[in-house]
Amino acid sequence: MVNAAIVGLGWWGRTILKLLHGNAKLRIVKAIDVNPDSAAIAREHGVAFAGELDAALGDPAVQAVILCTPHTLHSQQIVRAVAVARRRRARGGGVQRQSCRAGGRARATI
Ligand SMILES: NC(=O)c1ccc[n+]([C@@H]2O[C@H](COP(=O)([O-])OP(=O)(O)OC[C@H]3O[C@@H](n4cnc5c(N)ncnc54)[C@H](O)[C@@H]3O)[C@@H](O)[C@H]2O)c1
Repeated sequence: MVNAAIVGLGWWGRTILKLLHGNAKLRIVKAIDVNPDSAAIAREHGVAFAGELDAALGDPAVQAVILCTPHTLHSQQIVRAVAVARRRRARGGGVQRQSCRAGGRARATI
């Protein structure tokens, strides 16, 4: 079982949160959104809520992040997550990342 944080609880993040409920391989343990109103959605699903990506990246229980934020943010959020993953890997842990849709930024991110 991989414990993941979902980042962005807009239309797609909420959809993913519902779809992953009860999944045997991936469990959402934290939800992040800059909009504090999204805390209610996280509460409905019994998931801890925070307003900043760092709250997920700094949580040793979070092994992966699922980015459901606007795609213009993905590149910098992936870079932040990978930096944490590298530090964790050096200590024997890991963070997984989702793809980046924006072509030019995706290349720079990789
Ligand atoms: N809507 C779809 O059908 C669909 C399908 C597949 C993928 N996607 C992708 O999912 C992503 C989100 O799309 P959406 O339609 O849900 O958009 P949305 O605007 O409904 O949701 C984006 C959410 O991200 C939050 N957010 C913004 N900046 C943030 C930050 N720095 N940290 C944390 N949260 C932040 C916003 O408050 C909002 O709740 C996009 O990349 C989109 O391409 C959307």
